Amino acid sequence: MVPQSKVTSANHVAIIMDGNGRWAQQRGRPRLFGHQAGARRVREIVEACPDLGVEYLTIFAFSTENWKRTQSEVAGLMSLFRRYIAKEMQSFMRMGVCVRFIGDRVRLDEKLRQLMDDVEHLTRNNGRTNLTIALNYGGRDEVARATQRLAREVASGKLSPDAVDETTLARFLDTCLLPDPDLVIRTSGEARISNFLLWQSAYAEYEFIDTLWPDFTADVFAQVLSQFGRRERRFGADVA
Ligand code: FPP
Repeated sequence: MVPQSKVTSANHVAIIMDGNGRWAQQRGRPRLFGHQAGARRVREIVEACPDLGVEYLTIFAFSTENWKRTQSEVAGLMSLFRRYIAKEMQSFMRMGVCVRFIGDRVRLDEKLRQLMDDVEHLTRNNGRTNLTIALNYGGRDEVARATQRLAREVASGKLSPDAVDETTLARFLDTCLLPDPDLVIRTSGEARISNFLLWQSAYAEYEFIDTLWPDFTADVFAQVLSQFGRRERRFGADVA
């Protein structure tokens, strides 16, 4: 694929929503209180996307590493995801949001998986904003699962090993229906990518901002996007 020389608007923004725990701690409240505030912020950010020219928004809700947190935090997060999906289902329809999930669903409980299927099915024809929620997602895990599926096709004779290139592998990724992210934002002052969209972010721009996720308003989002608009992206090409 020929790289684009310049893109000024961020069509696909991916966000590592970090800092819920610290936000709660600053208020002397349990971590889950921060996650609940974080969940409320998601609605505001999704709602802001069309006006900001963002067609695809991908958010990191739970990583393959997050299972290492205490059992009560994990259970609280899973319950929050279930309640969030059930509660937001109608507002996704009202806002024209198409919802998808990436990550390995196998370890998620049956009720949550059912809600994920339901919201994906219900919103599948919406096209105003594409919201992808990464749940039990890890970039390396995704590449490993994709490779396993690809290897099965090779073993069955449907795919020749010589035909395997970047485009072929990308077809097997959870993100096969999404464009690559233009911009990856991480909140809370940490400058790490934490196994998020490793393959897809090869040419993404990164913004690491100090704001904790529950304080990440639509105004802050707009500021980050306008900063992005001033960057020159070369995709490995020479200066024009
Ligand atoms: C990181 O903050 C955040 C998470 C591991 C969970 C992200 C979840 C949400 C924003 C809530 C709900 C999302 C949806 C889609 C309903 P942290 O706990 O690591 O914060 P810390 O670094 O301050 O401890």
